[in-house]
Amino acid sequence: MSQSTKRQLPGDGETGDLEGGPAVKVSRRSIDSNGKEVSSAESPASCDSKSSTISTTVKDVTISNGNIRQKLNQFGDYDDVTNMSVDDWEFRWGKGQTQFHMNKVHPMLAKYLDKLTDGKDKQRIFVPLCGKTLDLKWLSDKGHSVVGCEVVATACQQFFEENDIEYTTETLPAADAVLYKAKDGRPLEIYCCDFFKITSDVIGEFDCIWDRGSLVALGVTLRQKYSDVIHPLLKTGGRYILDCFLVDNHVFGGPPFNCSEEDVNKYLGDKFQIEKLEKKDVFSKWQEEWGVSYFFEEVYLLTH
Ligand SMILES: C[S@@+](CC[C@H](N)C(=O)[O-])C[C@H]1O[C@@H](n2cnc3c(N)ncnc32)[C@H](O)[C@@H]1O
Repeated sequence: MSQSTKRQLPGDGETGDLEGGPAVKVSRRSIDSNGKEVSSAESPASCDSKSSTISTTVKDVTISNGNIRQKLNQFGDYDDVTNMSVDDWEFRWGKGQTQFHMNKVHPMLAKYLDKLTDGKDKQRIFVPLCGKTLDLKWLSDKGHSVVGCEVVATACQQFFEENDIEYTTETLPAADAVLYKAKDGRPLEIYCCDFFKITSDVIGEFDCIWDRGSLVALGVTLRQKYSDVIHPLLKTGGRYILDCFLVDNHVFGGPPFNCSEEDVNKYLGDKFQIEKLEKKDVFSKWQEEWGVSYFFEEVYLLTH
């Protein structure tokens, strides 16, 4: 069921329903991934507790009531985001809750482009769970052939419209997908479909994969499945850059979800050779809002 209709509160292994309780006013600044304040509205959070003793802690990151501890999520509320469905993502896009979107090319992509492509031109590059990232256009402008996969149609449309690229759409019933393609003939397209339904039969194989906010956006229980889907998409000799985060999900609901080097090895180590390229402290005002005390980005190069 969509988060929009049913709200659940995880709390260190416990859950509780959020519907129908007393409203708690939560003042919250909202800061996007570019460090910009995007709103300062007061928003209500509700709790179904019978007790009248509801307390809020510093910056309203947690609301405690008895044993229930609610974790703020990336979207600025307390919905349980541990296993977001396609409907849940559509709900967030519909509300414009896309603060993960950066208004610039991702710095790690710019920094490691040569590692990704091995310095080669005209690579076929896959961007899973692409949203409307500017990385797609940037890679395309460099002459690469770029294919994204994104389940929310609004995101696909916004990508082309906001970048002033005319596009066509084509329904692919066999893949349960709609293919968005640049009209001018350049190889730039987005498959609007569920990532878990795609195969190389549908989208072919790739020289390179750029994964930012993809593996780490999905529930931890989907990691093995993610690994099984992504692996056959990379050609033998291909190169895959994976951008992960170290974040405390005991405090912050996510996404992103913590993905350590151990996790990367656990889910991808049997299929790829893994080289850790960088660990960077990327704690910003936005993470401060989440109530966490650290936030690191880790970048890996995977080959096979
Ligand atoms: C955290 S965002 C990251 C977007 C993009 N990679 C970026 O860097 O801006 C995750 C994206 O994955 C999309 N998504 C979630 N589940 C998906 C699925 N099963 N198949 C395809 N896209 C999905 C969401 O709609 C959302 O746009």
